[in-house]
Amino acid sequence: MKKAFYLETFGCQMNVVDSERIVALLEQIGYSQVDAADKADLLLLNTCSIRDKAERKVYGHLGRFKPLKDQRPELIIGVGGCVAQQEGERMLDTVPYLDLVFGTHNVHRLPELVTQAEKHRSRGCATEFLGREERLGNFPQRSQLDSVTRFVTVMQGCDNFCSYCIVPYVRGREISRPSSEILAEIEALVAQGVREVTLLGQNVNSYGLKEDEISFAQLLKKMNDVEGLERIRFMTSHPKDMTDELIDCFGNLDKLCKQIHLPLQSGSDRVLKLMNRGYTAADYLQKVERLKAVCPEIRLSTDIIVGFPGETEADFLDTLEMVKTVKYADAFTFLFSSRTGTAASKLKDDQSSVQKQERFERLCALQNQNSEAVWQADQGKVLPVLVEGESKQGDGQIFGRTTWNRIVNFEGDKDLIGKTVSVKIAKVFRNSNLGELV
Ligand code: 5AD
Ligand code: SF4
Repeated sequence: MKKAFYLETFGCQMNVVDSERIVALLEQIGYSQVDAADKADLLLLNTCSIRDKAERKVYGHLGRFKPLKDQRPELIIGVGGCVAQQEGERMLDTVPYLDLVFGTHNVHRLPELVTQAEKHRSRGCATEFLGREERLGNFPQRSQLDSVTRFVTVMQGCDNFCSYCIVPYVRGREISRPSSEILAEIEALVAQGVREVTLLGQNVNSYGLKEDEISFAQLLKKMNDVEGLERIRFMTSHPKDMTDELIDCFGNLDKLCKQIHLPLQSGSDRVLKLMNRGYTAADYLQKVERLKAVCPEIRLSTDIIVGFPGETEADFLDTLEMVKTVKYADAFTFLFSSRTGTAASKLKDDQSSVQKQERFERLCALQNQNSEAVWQADQGKVLPVLVEGESKQGDGQIFGRTTWNRIVNFEGDKDLIGKTVSVKIAKVFRNSNLGELV
């Protein structure tokens, strides 16, 4: 009889891509995926440790698995991803019913760990960081999923050590794939029916700098020449590594979507310095102005941290000022969360949580106004939409995205999936638009 596994994924796109790999690897050893934990023989969590909340969620989920294991001791429970990388063996000590732990560089060892747990009931842990060659050999590769848009990982890890961030500790140093391999993967995806590719990396702007590769901008240019590919996106960018050459791509490359995620983190030079971000508010603004000059329709999104240790009201006002000036279409706002081992965890933090929460709400209120204004401006426009599939609302509609990555639901034939059509925006909602096929 076929064995079943249940997998839950937390956190960023890196984990989503790793989870696709997990699915493929488990299928190779005779498992098939199910959507409920109580129907599975193997339960896996692919975890995130970027903030305290994400981490606590993982432990909460493991707690919910315990009664299942009590009922069926043969059940195998495993944890992968960033929490697994960080905690390693300690997780096996603190969670006695856990069978296996695999780190961010060890996804490929999952079949071996599962097989050992099945045969010998032995508990296993694999969290060592790999060397360069081994890592390159284990980059997440194209899966056979049938879809219009796909992620392609171009680099992994991070060397920036922003003072608040756990990523460099749990994902290891930056490493970039050869451009020839990336382009071959994209061509294969396009042959399979993919029309939009999002290049993925913790800091795609420093792609190839360590390996004497072509620049990230040159990689985009080569992608733009791939016949059959219609849209290019990428994330995440670091403002300090946004070169003029890359900015110019938004004016020159017709397939590059007019949208960029450019994390600001703070608008205060003093805080940016404490964060080790490597740019000032003025540097950031200059890049935004250049982006808007080469591509007037471009829309930006960002990440902002509120309540960084020692943040004053004046620092916070600098952040609000930047948000007013840039007019982001979207902002992901986070309360600072101290991460063990990072430089910021050693800074004195004298703000009360009430004060942090109050600032957080002021920022959200401003951003909501901005987002609303940007989105409402689309009402009545006729926009090109790349159709991705049947609408998630299950109402017989189809959906696609605008160049700005906004979802549009509309009445249309399923034959349109994979095609770019003109859609009139009839109604703007918070998370999506309702459209009419023109
Ligand atoms: N506390 C709060 N937010 C954080 N981020 C990263 N580390 C932390 C932390 N310790 C945010 C940053 C980053 C996004 C992915 O998560 O804004 O850009
Ligand atoms: Fe973390 Fe900074 Fe690297 Fe982004 S660039 S992953 S915030 S250390």
